[in-house]
Amino acid sequence: MKSLIVYSSQTKNTKKLAEAIYESLEGEKDIFPVDEAPSTEGYDLTAVGFWLMAGKPDPKISEYLAKKVIKDNSLFLFATHGAAAGSNHVKNAIDHAIGLKNDVKIKGVFTCQGEVNPKVLEKVKQKPEPPVWIGDAAHAVGHPNEEDLSALRKMITEL
Ligand SMILES: Cc1cc2nc3c(=O)[nH]c(=O)nc-3n(C[C@H](O)[C@H](O)[C@H](O)COP(=O)(O)O)c2cc1C
Repeated sequence: MKSLIVYSSQTKNTKKLAEAIYESLEGEKDIFPVDEAPSTEGYDLTAVGFWLMAGKPDPKISEYLAKKVIKDNSLFLFATHGAAAGSNHVKNAIDHAIGLKNDVKIKGVFTCQGEVNPKVLEKVKQKPEPPVWIGDAAHAVGHPNEEDLSALRKMITEL
């Protein structure tokens, strides 16, 4: 089994998940930031990780999913976000990611909160209509934490 891990990460939250997946996967494996990632051709499993931006997967990963994930590939999606885990905001973003790739098999999905850059948080709070996820962002401090990472490792070893 040959696996590819591709991730996008500005402040390293999603990168931490990517590295935990890399450590937990058996067999041949490669890991790339999205800017350097090849197409998924020749891989049995691809894990694609993104951070949420404006309620969707960040633009680089949206483009990667649309253009470089080939048919017949098995996909594991992972993400970090300021919004609460399990919220509709997160579910909609995951549905959006899956919608970009209707033709592949989804092997699993893992998401958790990721600490939001405080400068971004201040700016966003000052908008006339702050987005829904902002209320949950205080609880994202310190995430992903060891508990998040061990839940992810468990999921990967059970794939
Ligand atoms: C410009 C910007 C927009 C964001 N938009 C959202 C959003 O719509 N929903 C959300 O839950 N989190 C949002 N976040 C929070 C990030 O998704 C979260 O902090 C994530 O863990 C960052 O991942 P990274 O460290 O891998 O870059 C936003 C962050 C930034 C910087």
